[in-house]
Order: sequence, then structure tokens, then C-alpha cells
Amino acid sequence: MEEHGAAKCLLVASRNVGKVAEIRQLLADYAVKVIGLNDLSDSAAPAEPHDTFADNARHKALQLAERTGLAALADDSGLQVDALGGRPGVYSSRYGSDDRQRIDKLLAELADVPDERRGACFVCVIAIACQGQVVGLWEGECKGVILREPRGNAGFGYDPIFYYPSLGRTFAEISTEQKNGVSHRGRALQAMLEALRGGELLGHPLR
Ligand code: IMP
Repeated sequence: MEEHGAAKCLLVASRNVGKVAEIRQLLADYAVKVIGLNDLSDSAAPAEPHDTFADNARHKALQLAERTGLAALADDSGLQVDALGGRPGVYSSRYGSDDRQRIDKLLAELADVPDERRGACFVCVIAIACQGQVVGLWEGECKGVILREPRGNAGFGYDPIFYYPSLGRTFAEISTEQKNGVSHRGRALQAMLEALRGGELLGHPLR
């Protein structure tokens, strides 16, 4: 891992400022400087060429680590809908040209699906790569139900139609903090933190 100033540097494979800030906050107790793609002169995002979340996360982390010489963290996530055989899955971000279109397409496909068969699962896989090697892979899942119309204005993506039964709200009706506590991404990040605490990064401890 390269030194960046006094601290070791972890590059998050994202231009999403919110996502980078969330990971930076989670790693606040570690001697790691967390940066995102926007902090690089070459901010190109790596491709997602595979058909599983794990393969895409691995690919992105390895490619960025190689390109920059830094330790790189990449995630891949999406929504698996039971009645659609797991679609849109890894293609969630490419299911339409914007969030509204993606939601409308999904709701149209589920129009005739009864309430008891509208189960869905958000999935997130996080990989860290360093010096040509994937040094950790963590997965988080979150199960819910797809509503018949959007509810709430918070969050992003499919949040307004993803109803989380134990909170009685959609992901677009709860705070970011509440969402992080139960979401697929929050759970994958927590699993990663536990591994870091246990020093399980195959000889590449981050502190
Ligand atoms: P990625 O950037 O390839 O991981 O794309 C993930 C896509 O899955 C996003 O563009 C959203 O459409 C969807 N997605 C993943 N996580 C969430 C979430 O927490 N809420 C809503 N949609 C999500």
C-alpha cells in the first residue's frame, strides 16, 4: 500500500461524494486516508463487465489498484426481485436511463404480481484489492417488498418502492442513518469493519 502524506491511502472506486464520505466516516478511527475517484486526475470509473456482484467488485478493485498503485475498495450492488427470477440484479443501474424510468419499468413488470409474491432483496458486495491481490470480499443483503407505487423522497435508485417491513416504511421514507443501519451496503461495510478490526486482511492491515 502506498503512503499518501502521513497516512496510508484507500481509494474508493466511486465518484459518488456521499458514498465516499460514508466510508470515510466508518474508517475514521483507522490511520487511513480515504479518497474517491474525484480526487484523482484520471477519475475514469472501471467497467462492470461480469454477471455477478462479487466478480464486478473484484474486477473494479483489482483494476484500480493496478492503475493507481493504491489499495482500492470497490462495491457492486443491485436489486434482486423474486418474481423476476432475480432481475434486474447486476443490471440494476442499466435498467432504464434514470431512476424514474427504472422504477416505472419494474412496476409495469410487476403489475400482475400479487402482494404475497412481491419479495425482493438488495445485495451489495465490497472488495478491497492491494498489490495485485484481492485481500477481502464482504457481502450484505437486505430483504423487503416492492410496493405498487413510489413513497418518500429520500435516498436514491429503487428506494421509493422498496418497503422495509420491520420499519414499516420504504427506504425513501427513512433517514440515511436508519438506512445505513439495516441496508445491504451498511451490512457489507460492517462486515468489512469487523474483518479490519480482527486484522484479517491477509498481511495488509490498514493500521
Ligand atoms: P452500481 O453502481 O453498479 O453498484 O449500481 C447499483 C444500482 O443498484 C444503483 O444504480 C441503483 O439503481 C441500485 N441500488 C443499489 N443500492 C441501492 C440502494 O441502496 N437503494 C436504491 N437503489 C439501489
